Amino acid sequence: MMKNKTLKVNRNDPCPCGSGFKYKKCCLGKNASDPKNLKAEYADKYGIRLKQPADIEGIKRAGRLALDILDRVVPEIRPGVVTDHINTLVHEFTLARGGVSAPLNYRGFPKSVCVSINEVICHGIPGERALQDGDIVNVDVTPILDGYYADVSKTFFVGTPGPEAKKIVGVAKKSLAQGLSMARPGNTVGDIGWAIQQYAEKQGCSVVREFVGHGVGLEFHEPPQIFHFGRKGDGIRLIPGMVFTIEPMINLGKKELVILDDQWTAVTKDGSLSAQFEQTILITDHGFESLTPFDV
Ligand code: MF3
Ligand code: CO
Ligand code: CO
Repeated sequence: MMKNKTLKVNRNDPCPCGSGFKYKKCCLGKNASDPKNLKAEYADKYGIRLKQPADIEGIKRAGRLALDILDRVVPEIRPGVVTDHINTLVHEFTLARGGVSAPLNYRGFPKSVCVSINEVICHGIPGERALQDGDIVNVDVTPILDGYYADVSKTFFVGTPGPEAKKIVGVAKKSLAQGLSMARPGNTVGDIGWAIQQYAEKQGCSVVREFVGHGVGLEFHEPPQIFHFGRKGDGIRLIPGMVFTIEPMINLGKKELVILDDQWTAVTKDGSLSAQFEQTILITDHGFESLTPFDV
């Protein structure tokens, strides 16, 4: 989830357009129709830092690591495994590859990965809970590599899934696909949320409102917020160089949630299953490129 931090550009800072000049000598106060000034406008008005080619390479390397961490975890997704074991694996694998786990100590989060079973929507804290046959489990990893962040998650089946597990995991994956299908310049953030909500609700499922996608790359959570619900055409227009996550949390029952006493674990209020898939994407000139690609 994103906490809105406005990243204001000061007069004497380097211009966000990447020219190398000071902001006051470059784009400050200029007409926004010029692409250079668009960058300044996005920085000023929305706090969005558009990514330069070197940033994109860095985030892509972090993204490769993030996917490798998930692949490393897959053989451990079996009945009887406690979630703290997954935490240890993620923590050590990340360090061995020269990275650091962003979740550890992030706003007081005590572990290196979020592991969210069944009715847990997100932010599950690894501990002594053991995976059971038929469970679904989301593993959400965010390594920092050379200062760059990539954020990715998948929901896995433990053993043999029942019909409800199959349904919610299928709908959650396709919800991400619907969001991605709207990710191109000229569309808005609202188009992404609209496509997800339309689809998920048509399947009889619901979209969690309290947690949203977010800008990512230079920090864990940057502007803008990417809602997984909403109206076509609403919100900020997408432009090349934006890097953000799409990460819809989809419930089999109602959308309402409860936060447990640990202040992190979000569970469905009605106890129904919840699933999530997340990718970090870059808006390109003609569409998007996933920096954490996997099939959806
Ligand atoms: N990875 C989560 C997201 O997709 C955020 C987890 S915050 C943590 O935004 F502190 F719980 F790690
Ligand atoms: Co995220
Ligand atoms: Co995440």
